[in-house]
Amino acid sequence: MTDSVRVEPVRVGLVGVGIIAETHLAVLAEREDVALEFTVDSRPVEPVDFRGATPPHYGDLPRALDAHRPDLVVLATPTETHAELAVQALLRSGARVLVEKPLVHDLASLAALRELDGKADVRGRLFTAHHFAFSPEVDWAAALIAANPGWGPVTAITSAFYDPYVLRGEAAFASYVSSWMDSGVNQLSMLTRFVDLTELTSFQQADGGASAWCTVGFRSRGEAGTARLRSSWLTGSSSKESSLVLARSGVEVWIDHTAMTGFAAREGELLAVFGNDGRTARKIAHYRPLYASLFSGRPDPVLGFDAAARVTAIHRAAPEPR
Ligand SMILES: NC(=O)c1ccc[n+]([C@@H]2O[C@H](COP(=O)([O-])OP(=O)(O)OC[C@H]3O[C@@H](n4cnc5c(N)ncnc54)[C@H](O)[C@@H]3O)[C@@H](O)[C@H]2O)c1
Repeated sequence: MTDSVRVEPVRVGLVGVGIIAETHLAVLAEREDVALEFTVDSRPVEPVDFRGATPPHYGDLPRALDAHRPDLVVLATPTETHAELAVQALLRSGARVLVEKPLVHDLASLAALRELDGKADVRGRLFTAHHFAFSPEVDWAAALIAANPGWGPVTAITSAFYDPYVLRGEAAFASYVSSWMDSGVNQLSMLTRFVDLTELTSFQQADGGASAWCTVGFRSRGEAGTARLRSSWLTGSSSKESSLVLARSGVEVWIDHTAMTGFAAREGELLAVFGNDGRTARKIAHYRPLYASLFSGRPDPVLGFDAAARVTAIHRAAPEPR
């Protein structure tokens, strides 16, 4: 007789077998506590290999849910499908649902999910993959600032996110809607690690939705500050950086989200540095701790419905793209 306890794996259904699904599959495959129960995609896709086997595949979510009882449904489909598929998963299964960011593409969908809460435990079951909040340099900088209350409040933030989606043409708009829709939610959810966001204070969109510039108010250690957020797809390479200024002490914290590095300085003095061993791909470095948190029994609040609702309220306060 052995005293080891057999733990049933978490049965996961993956909906949307596109680009980001590859990262979900890679991280899920690392976890011994996970079994891939099924995949879904509305277009014909190559069979998905998961630890040497191919799980059953379906052309739509309702058919998959008729045949399976997953513990978790992951929605990695284009942004404009998130709300409808989330409602289907919540009503047709008892599974928890992890939705790619942004949770919804409009405020009406957010209101519909909120209304569903009494019926389908939206707060207990619906999670949003705010993966940037789990990036290692963000973790490092948030811990550094928290450990140094003497540095005073964060007074100003500048964050610039560039993606080479101009090369994907119309397909980029179909999957991600606009640079603000895609990157704005990453910038906002990342900033919730540092400050309490209050409201969108200005917004400009350019290049047919491929670029954006906005300002967002926040509070930090009791004081008000402003974040300036730039995003654009007009580039051939990816580059994402943020700088946090704590003006009262003269400290500045730079984080490079592409390199997953950071440093803190005060005038000519280097105060702290953060690097990595170069072995972990960026998206894996985000989704590994994200899934660890989701499966921990106490998911980080940044994954929860209330965080998504707060981020969405600011994110969708911007006028409609295009
Ligand atoms: N690509 C990234 O780096 C990245 C990173 C983080 C988050 N995301 C988010 O993930 C989502 C998907 O992005 P992507 O880059 O993987 O897009 P994608 O277009 O590569 O993949 C989406 C997949 O979903 C499928 N699909 C569309 N409608 C469907 C439906 N109703 N039912 C089932 N399958 C359906 C498509 O056929 C496609 O295979 C977006 O919301 C995006 O914001 C993307």
